[in-house]
Amino acid sequence: MSAGPVVVLVGPMGVGKSTVGALLAERLGVGHRDTDEDIVAAEGRTIADIFVEEGEPAFRAIEKRAVHQALAEHEGVLALGGGAILDADTRELLDGLPVVYLSMDVEEAVKRTGLNTARPLLAVNPRRQWRELMEARRHLYTEVARAVVATDDRTPEEVAQAVLDAL
Ligand code: S3P
Repeated sequence: MSAGPVVVLVGPMGVGKSTVGALLAERLGVGHRDTDEDIVAAEGRTIADIFVEEGEPAFRAIEKRAVHQALAEHEGVLALGGGAILDADTRELLDGLPVVYLSMDVEEAVKRTGLNTARPLLAVNPRRQWRELMEARRHLYTEVARAVVATDDRTPEEVAQAVLDAL
């Protein structure tokens, strides 16, 4: 049986989970895994394509399987897709694990991802969609997390250090 991930990063799209995850893995001398990448590799298509071809509920089912598999197998740093915590079974699985919520405020989110239409959830009105996403999810990120690290005015290196300090 796997000892489980040394750290699980949760938080919204574009907050830097993949970048910070890679830095943390390097610092800790462990592997880095990202559930979005697992899904793209397993499905052989982009996440945007899965949303367009099958819709969000089908994507969430695929994501749930990928997240549960990664949690069972991976012993390094694990970054979860921004919506993974919408699933109650997943939140339950995260209970007791070293989960860190990387947070940012709405204006920072708009700044970072505003023009990125490859993200299917932000295609129409990014500022309004960001506000709604944050309102719907903030409490879920907080619920699963052992620590919260605000990323707004920090470089990825500073965020990685803050995560290490928080663990
Ligand atoms: C999503 C976040 C994305 C990806 C998909 C849906 C979300 O992952 O899984 O576009 O619902 O917040 P990242 O957080 O890695 O960008």
